[in-house]
Amino acid sequence: MSKVTLKAAREQRVTAPSLFRRKQRGEPISMLTAYDFTFARIFDAAGIDVLLVGDSLGNVVQGLDTTLPVSLDEIVYHTRLVSRACARALVVADMPFGSYQVSEEEAVRSAIRCIKEGGAHAVKLEGGTSVARGIERIVAAEIPVMGHVGLTPQAIHRMGGHRVQGRTEQGAARVLEDARAVQEAGAFAVVLEGLPASLSRQVTAELDIPTIGIGAGVHCDGQVLVMHDMLGLSDWTPSFVKQYAALGGLAAQAARQFAEEVSNRKFPDAEHSYR
Ligand code: KIV
Repeated sequence: MSKVTLKAAREQRVTAPSLFRRKQRGEPISMLTAYDFTFARIFDAAGIDVLLVGDSLGNVVQGLDTTLPVSLDEIVYHTRLVSRACARALVVADMPFGSYQVSEEEAVRSAIRCIKEGGAHAVKLEGGTSVARGIERIVAAEIPVMGHVGLTPQAIHRMGGHRVQGRTEQGAARVLEDARAVQEAGAFAVVLEGLPASLSRQVTAELDIPTIGIGAGVHCDGQVLVMHDMLGLSDWTPSFVKQYAALGGLAAQAARQFAEEVSNRKFPDAEHSYR
């Protein structure tokens, strides 16, 4: 990239403060997960505002049942691949289970690794009141933090599965309290996952920072999906997911045709051979 192009790219870079202004202007924010250079480059060029290196990589990249075993080293590695590809999108590294719960010092240390080694522009962590002090400390270290409340997959054992949260009066009050705590602690945005649309609407109206929903209805300030789900690469997708492509079927078809052409010696033909 030339110096001029690099400067132009930097000038239009999505930043944490720019997302705040987007909420004030009523402009919706798009966010997708990404885990490697190839897809990050495609999504960045397509104009996706935020790329999240989610700990969902445990499920969709590593084939695990939960996100709990994902390590900080793995997040840092995948963040490095994604940030290398992005000229415009804000890159957010998802802090994995165990990297911020033990102490605030460890939370800051883990966040610094995501920025320094991974090249992320911000970090995300799950929880509300219980992690507010950790968010404050990371923000004090000059690292923008995105919160994540409602259905928080790292709390799968406490929640008893991936269950929609905030359906009872008490549950809704807890989600509101968590969202307020995250904002109060200095987060620049918050993911709302697995909530009734009416509750996300209430949280979105109450908070000054943007809310980014997943399975949380249309009233959020932005929307996020896991890339494998929206591209049709997953075996199963939750009902709130819209599939924008069927890449799994296309890849399977391409692989079947390749295998057939190898077995009947149709590939490589003259066109695909060196002379
Ligand atoms: O890990 C992830 O992909 C996430 C999104 C679902 C928000 O946290």
